[in-house]
Amino acid sequence: EFKIDVQKTGAPIQSTMYGIFFEDINFGADGGLYAELIKNRSFEFENPFGGWMPFGNVSVQTKNPCFDRNPHYVRLSYEKELTGTGLDNEGFKGIGIREGEKYDFSLYARTQSGMPVKLRINLVDSRNDLYEQKEIEVSGKEWKKYTVVLTPGVTEARSRLRITMATKGTVDLEHISLFPQKTFNNRPNGMRADLAQALKDLKPGVFRFPGGCIVEGTNKATRYQWKNTIGPVENRPININRWNYTFSHKKFPDYYQSYGLGFFEYFQLSEDIGAEPLPVLNCGLSCQYENQDPNENCPVDKLQPYIDDALDLIEFANGPVTSKWGKIRADMGHPAPFNLKLIAIGNEQWGPLYPERLEPFIKAIRARYPEIKIIGSSGPQSEGEDFDFLWPEMKRLKVDLVDEHFYRSPEWFLNGAKRYDSYDRQGPKVFAGEYACHPANRENSFLTALCEAAFMTGFERNADVVHLCTYAPLFAHVDAWQWRPDLIWFDNLSLVKTPNYYVQQLYGHNAGTNVVPLTMQDEPVTGQQDLYATAAVDKHSNELIIKVANTGIRNKRIKLNLNGLSAGKHKGTLTLLHSSDLEAKNTLCNPSAVVPVVSDIEMEAPQMNVNLKPLSFSVYRIKL
Ligand code: AHR
Repeated sequence: EFKIDVQKTGAPIQSTMYGIFFEDINFGADGGLYAELIKNRSFEFENPFGGWMPFGNVSVQTKNPCFDRNPHYVRLSYEKELTGTGLDNEGFKGIGIREGEKYDFSLYARTQSGMPVKLRINLVDSRNDLYEQKEIEVSGKEWKKYTVVLTPGVTEARSRLRITMATKGTVDLEHISLFPQKTFNNRPNGMRADLAQALKDLKPGVFRFPGGCIVEGTNKATRYQWKNTIGPVENRPININRWNYTFSHKKFPDYYQSYGLGFFEYFQLSEDIGAEPLPVLNCGLSCQYENQDPNENCPVDKLQPYIDDALDLIEFANGPVTSKWGKIRADMGHPAPFNLKLIAIGNEQWGPLYPERLEPFIKAIRARYPEIKIIGSSGPQSEGEDFDFLWPEMKRLKVDLVDEHFYRSPEWFLNGAKRYDSYDRQGPKVFAGEYACHPANRENSFLTALCEAAFMTGFERNADVVHLCTYAPLFAHVDAWQWRPDLIWFDNLSLVKTPNYYVQQLYGHNAGTNVVPLTMQDEPVTGQQDLYATAAVDKHSNELIIKVANTGIRNKRIKLNLNGLSAGKHKGTLTLLHSSDLEAKNTLCNPSAVVPVVSDIEMEAPQMNVNLKPLSFSVYRIKL
């Protein structure tokens, strides 16, 4: 029997509770969410031709560049008959194009003589079949921007862009871009529409960005510096991606951050998907997994530029248009403040190096922006290790929230449903900032989704302590990933939502406003008879919401004792996520192996019996 007392309204559930965490890993940004289709558009990779295949007479130049922070460009010369000169771009494991859709092609160019030179712009496939052809005439010795719209006649996931000289001469090319006209919310320099829509469809309360380990970088020089990610995209200096190491067998690094998706775009996307922005900033430490060299950490007495980055970021997000950084935001097209309320300093730091650096950040932010909530880190939490010793330090420093990360086994996740029952109610709140159930094969499956659903009942039941939670990582390109499991997989044209995605979505859409008690023999339901359950009311829609994970292989017949509901029939819905196969997966070819199914139900108060299917996650919504 489950006893639910609807009138005993408990802790409020934060509207931000169920959120998302984005990091540029697995080609999540360039090649993923950020809709740019050209790889290495500014020729700034260590190998300037990375992503490009030049043919004929093509060289890399830096003299009198178009953009001072991205100085490399290419020079194409075509002086003799019968010699083709040009270059192909491979995109990110190909360029995804759709028949009949419009793509904005642009580049910056000048000619050496000033005389006009014609360029042919093609979309081709690996057999060199042409999908689209347009021409651009470049003239004059000064850098100018040229644009043309491409409308391919086919749909193709792995096409290439080809630029060829169609007339003789010498021409310089820079910042070569191909962008779908259709982006999410029609934003210029925007996001891939289907991927961003999938984020919005989660109904996220909070949006943590831009990482993860990439915030720290492999060393000081490669840490994420948000000031490099704003202003005109053409002049944002690129940065090697911390996750590049997976490709280290290659002669040249291949995974960079173009920063086309930068902090302005992150804030704007937060607004577009209805989530509170939550930026994470470097605390003066390099990624402690990657780099143990003390010289790669900033000494405590030299932290001021890092602290200024945090203060300036708050001004960039919230400051008036008359302020230095607020004006830059306004000039980029958003005069209204972004209403930033949360900031995280440090990612997965550990040891005494972290609190001694966090402290001066806290002092400075509290002094200037006392209304901003500060999130500290409790370090990484992997199987067999515990870095919980940072919690006392976080309490001492009086951070508002502590970011905890869990990548652990199915068993750990099931036990973890009780984790927060014993947390100190007086200390900082919890932000479960990265978590995912990791089975031995590290694949997304119904098993992992079910364990996460069970674990998350513990978040909701302890909503007085747990204020935010975000699964990780969010995205993975099927042909270019370094880490799994991930919430959403995609190729250059389509995406697949994992069973784990649907669990997140069920929590996001059925958050409720307040916890109400749900017990079995006077105890919270945290694994007895393989059941995990929690209940909430939604004061806005006047509904009771019950979430139950049945991780057992038997059907469970449960008597629901609904105290506080008027006697008689109550209409509602049951959303069921179920599979009889724990290994079931959604794939690009079969995206609907595990999807939630909604049915209308009628519940009888004050008591009624319900059947909980084996291996299922059920969400009941009942009109009060
Ligand atoms: O989510 C992948 C990585 O896991 C994050 O970058 C890091 O914070 C954690 O170790």
